[in-house]
Amino acid sequence: MRVAVLGASGLIGRDVTAVLSGRGHEVIALTRASGVDAYTGAGLDAALAGVDVIVDAVNSPLQETAAVRDFFGTVAARVRAAAARAGVRHIVLLSIIGIDDTTAGHYAGKLAQEHAYLEGTVPVRILRAAQFHEFTEMMLNWTTVGDTATVPRMRTQLVNARTVAERLADLALAAEAPARLELAGPEALDLVTAVRALAERLGAPARVLESTDDTVPDAALQAGGGLLPGPAAELAGPDFAAWLDEHHPAG
Ligand SMILES: NC(=O)c1ccc[n+]([C@@H]2O[C@H](COP(=O)([O-])OP(=O)(O)OC[C@H]3O[C@@H](n4cnc5c(N)ncnc54)[C@H](OP(=O)(O)O)[C@@H]3O)[C@@H](O)[C@H]2O)c1
Repeated sequence: MRVAVLGASGLIGRDVTAVLSGRGHEVIALTRASGVDAYTGAGLDAALAGVDVIVDAVNSPLQETAAVRDFFGTVAARVRAAAARAGVRHIVLLSIIGIDDTTAGHYAGKLAQEHAYLEGTVPVRILRAAQFHEFTEMMLNWTTVGDTATVPRMRTQLVNARTVAERLADLALAAEAPARLELAGPEALDLVTAVRALAERLGAPARVLESTDDTVPDAALQAGGGLLPGPAAELAGPDFAAWLDEHHPAG
């Protein structure tokens, strides 16, 4: 099968590309380096010639709500229109568990992305994943000032990125699949606990604090378990401790 991967140069897109290639399929990387800008639409039609399925694992560093909604909504509208013109069979979208009631930032952008895809004519299979184990690294990068990181209060069920990539590939290749499903790791935990374990393993920062500012949009939802999987979700390892040992071995 010929599968186009949007975001093929990113964290999850690299794994999706490796999984699909490893299973013997042809992968078309839709990246700006290869002449495709999914926001402007440049290069999309040419790149999608002969493509059977699209996996969308695009991302944006934007955080401001209107800007991130515009990015994800515009990209989805361009991709769904180009997919229809190219006769693509279905689109697999990577999204995030629990975003229905979010109002701001990245999560609100992802909701706009889902809605934009669902307005199209090409069938969409949405895999809603929990936060990846690597989210703990991102938190340290984003929030460390001096010797202190401050992470939002969040209940999460961290999932392995490679496991997410495997499921995205499954959804891309399957003849039949549900329109939406959830994938999370095996155990719910407080994000701060996982970030502290990573910081201890790295030897820095010395302190990891938890922010409990309920005036931040969606803070109460995140703190109260709104990002945890529902009862029908698939739960799969490896768990955070195994990821930590593999990626940041002790000693
Ligand atoms: N991190 C988590 O915990 C988590 C959990 C669940 C779901 N997700 C979702 O996973 C998705 C992927 O995240 P990630 O961390 O793997 O992404 P990433 O590493 O930040 O990579 C972003 C990708 O988007 C591509 N891209 C950005 N702007 C583009 C444009 N205008 N045209 C074409 N490609 C563009 C980049 O390609 P080039 O720059 O090479 O063009 C790159 O391949 C996101 O949508 C995120 O919401 C993340």
